[in-house]
Amino acid sequence: MNVLITGANRGLGLGFAGYYLDQGHDVWACYRRDAGELAATRSEQLHLIRWDVGCDDHPAGELPEQIDLLINNAGIYGPGEDGQTLSGVSSTTMHEVFNVDCVGPLRVVQHLAGRMTRGSTIANVSSKMGSSADNSSGGTYAYRAAKAALVIVSKSMSVDLAPAGIHVITLHPGWVKTDMTHRTGLIDVATSVSGMCKVIKQARDYDPGCFIAYDGQRVAY
Ligand SMILES: NC(=O)c1ccc[n+]([C@@H]2O[C@H](COP(=O)([O-])OP(=O)(O)OC[C@H]3O[C@@H](n4cnc5c(N)ncnc54)[C@H](OP(=O)(O)O)[C@@H]3O)[C@@H](O)[C@H]2O)c1
Repeated sequence: MNVLITGANRGLGLGFAGYYLDQGHDVWACYRRDAGELAATRSEQLHLIRWDVGCDDHPAGELPEQIDLLINNAGIYGPGEDGQTLSGVSSTTMHEVFNVDCVGPLRVVQHLAGRMTRGSTIANVSSKMGSSADNSSGGTYAYRAAKAALVIVSKSMSVDLAPAGIHVITLHPGWVKTDMTHRTGLIDVATSVSGMCKVIKQARDYDPGCFIAYDGQRVAY
């Protein structure tokens, strides 16, 4: 299987890359600036692509002719502290986070859809923070809005690509110990990634555009 993962140089993306390499698949691992640990990984099945999903520039590197699985993983949280409160969030922050977390996956799919065929899967990594049903604490305006919008964009993709046999789902990784959460969180990268990969393997058991957590539970949105 040919797997392409964005934001694969650290955190969950790096976990996805290692998981699929261990399973014997060919992995196109994308990074924004610094390949990080990927550069030290010796595998003929690992292909590195430089791709900033926050801009319209074409990716640097040779893409696969066919993509069986695309994981839109790259994302940013935006500023912490007062930077995402009702009084503190700026229009710049709203746009920056939206550009990477929502427009980013859309750009990637627009660029790659022609390389996907009947049986291909797209997994868009959103967050339960983007679920209105789950929002009881408010705040975090930019991240919540961008991840909520990604759920909607992912749903439209799932409808539009269904006739071509391309199945689209949206994932919630759980609360994971990565840089994004400053290593807080309830679960480690391996637990989150193995759970999400199990969901991806069974993706066609879920409706197109379904929002699913790493433990297989549907997320209301
Ligand atoms: N950790 C959690 O608890 C959690 C929960 C829910 C959802 N998520 C989502 O899961 C995904 C991965 O999160 P993580 O925890 O692994 O975060 P992370 O450790 O902060 O890693 C984020 C990854 O995204 C990349 N990235 C950021 N902006 C990019 C851009 N413009 N173009 C390309 N790559 C870019 C980063 O690359 P650089 O190294 O270049 O910055 C890095 O590889 C994100 O979409 C996040 O929102 C995470």
